[in-house]
Amino acid sequence: MATSSPCIVIGDEDQGYDLDLFCVPKHYASDLERVYIPHGLILDRTERLAREIMKDMGGHHVVALCVLKGGYKFFADLLGYMEALNGNSESCSVPMTVEFIRLVSYCDDQSTGEIKVIRGDDLPALTGKHVLIVEDIVDTGKAMKTLLELLKLHNPQIVKVASLLVKRTPRSVGYRPDFVGFEVPDKFVVGYGLDYNEYFRDLKHICVISETGREKYKS
Ligand code: HPA
Ligand code: MG
Repeated sequence: MATSSPCIVIGDEDQGYDLDLFCVPKHYASDLERVYIPHGLILDRTERLAREIMKDMGGHHVVALCVLKGGYKFFADLLGYMEALNGNSESCSVPMTVEFIRLVSYCDDQSTGEIKVIRGDDLPALTGKHVLIVEDIVDTGKAMKTLLELLKLHNPQIVKVASLLVKRTPRSVGYRPDFVGFEVPDKFVVGYGLDYNEYFRDLKHICVISETGREKYKS
């Protein structure tokens, strides 16, 4: 297993914050339990991840591969910070290009166990390249293992993985990304791109869904 850099660990006993302490869209007010990771903290941690990634991968052209849909916000913010580092460095900067892939594996809050690649036609662009996969969450790790196998078929030179979240779960296959923002308990989280049947992507904080929300948006 690859060793990954340290991350912020959110403990099982961590209750997060009352919703009323933050700005949460009215349409989700009864659908959430608590704010778990406020947006500002997500951004601050992402800024530091950008620095770690540039230190590790910044000597070469980086192809950043966004795993859709969940990864889109983290991807945009992370690349923004990497671009800022490029722009502010007097000694070196590297070109970055972007690619996208779409994976589907969840229905309600359960993994279907089957990982489908919906859009993967850009993968030949990764051959011989230094690839940074950008993902919202590594839960069991099965989806990431499948994606890494798929990428291997296209012979990239180096592949590193940045995931905003990693879940502590007994269902884990033991995969750990190279760069991790936060380790979270075994609860279903939504917001900042993470969804429950497509809902809650339009929520800036990462929150724990309530029973009402689960019922309201179940498929
Ligand atoms: N939330 C949203 N999507 C997910 C999760 C989660 O906790 N785990 C895997 N996909
Ligand atoms: Mg994802």
